[in-house]
Parts: sequence; structure tokens; C-alpha cells
Amino acid sequence: MRLSNEQVFITRGSQMAMFLAAHALLQPGDHVLIENPGYKPAREAFTHACAGLLSVNVDAHGIVIDEVTAYLKDYPNIKAVYIIPRHQFPTTVTLNLRRRMELVALSNLYGFTTIQDDYDHEFHYSPRPVTPVSSLGRARNYVYIGSMSKIVAPALRIGYLASCASVIDKVTNLRKIIDVQIDFMMEQTVFQLIQDREVRRHLKRTTLLLYLQPPTVTDQI
Ligand SMILES: Cc1ncc(COP(=O)(O)O)c(C=O)c1O
Repeated sequence: MRLSNEQVFITRGSQMAMFLAAHALLQPGDHVLIENPGYKPAREAFTHACAGLLSVNVDAHGIVIDEVTAYLKDYPNIKAVYIIPRHQFPTTVTLNLRRRMELVALSNLYGFTTIQDDYDHEFHYSPRPVTPVSSLGRARNYVYIGSMSKIVAPALRIGYLASCASVIDKVTNLRKIIDVQIDFMMEQTVFQLIQDREVRRHLKRTTLLLYLQPPTVTDQI
């Protein structure tokens, strides 16, 4: 993804990013498409923003695009589609490239925002990571969410979202209402770990370990 510093907003974990994105993008009466089965904490963030939730099934290749298209024809006020594109929870499937491209084309056509929860993007066994939906086909309306929870530890409460300037402005104003100051010490500590390449080394070691002993689906749930 090509981003400027101003397009990245650090949050207390991806859960805060989801909450802020939901409240920045949605009004009461709007609809959000969510995955079925899916991630309950994300559903709760959208429900809190008073959005209507519409479930789209997930098969072996990710969210079913035909169902997305059908909903878009029936509901004029679909403002967002929430997806976990790489390692879907709880199924673990990856959204395939064709569907990712189709989703970007639909988002550009209908103007809805793709909210991508890429919570463990850094863990992959192929030489290159799976491309985020927001870096494909001139994606215009997106909120990309990442987290340090899986890379290092959930207790850090460091996550981030990336989006356009207007969404970043809205989430900045919302966050000021609930949180007057960032966790400066923790952010500086994590920054140091990234700069010293400690995080990179840790990722290499853990990926190797996961490759040798892959977790089962039941371990992950
Ligand atoms: C689908 C999904 N998104 C995000 C997260 C990480 O949340 P957070 O960054 O708030 O700790 C998790 C953690 O289990 C998850 O399963």
C-alpha cells in the first residue's frame, strides 16, 4: 500500500480502530455487510454505531461475492463491507485474488468502504504476503486495520488504521472525545523494537516455528 504518514492513525489495538471506523463511517439506518461466520467484536462495533448488519456467507475462497452483489442491488444504503481477507476468523480461509479484485470494483462502483481487518498479515509462509484489498485496482474507499496483538502481544494495545484524509480527520475527532492522550511510552517502545529490527527477527523465528508446528483450527478458536 502506498500511504503517507498522515494516512496512518495509531489506535489502542484493532478493536479501537474498528469502533472508530464504525462511528466515522456509519449513521443510524446505514447497512454493513459482515462475514458469516465472522468476528463478534467487529459486529458489536457496527451495532453500537446503530448500523443494520447483513450477513454474507464465507466459503473456501472467502466472502461470496455473488451475495454481496445481490445485497447491493436490494439495499441502497450499504456503506461498508467488513472482511478479514487473509486469515478469516473463524474459518482461516484467504479471500482469493479474483474476489479481492471484484470487491474493489464493486466498492468503486457503489461507493461503499471496505473495512479490512488484517490482524495477522505478517504471518505467512509464502515469500510475499497476501496483497491487501486496499492496494488493488485503485481502491478508493477503504479502511485498512492492522495490529501488534498477534505479532508481539495483545497486551500492548497497539493497532492502527489507514485510510483517506477525511476518515482520518473524523477518527481523530472521535478519539479526542474518549482519549486525550496516546500511550506515548508504549508506542515509543514498540517503535524502538521495529527500528532495531527486533520485530522482524521475532517474526522470522515465529513463522518458522508455526511452519514446523502449524496450529489446528481448534487451537485458534
Ligand atoms: C479477527 C480479529 N481481529 C482483530 C484481532 C486483534 O484485536 P486487537 O488488536 O484489538 O487485540 C483479533 C484477535 O484475536 C482477531 O481475531
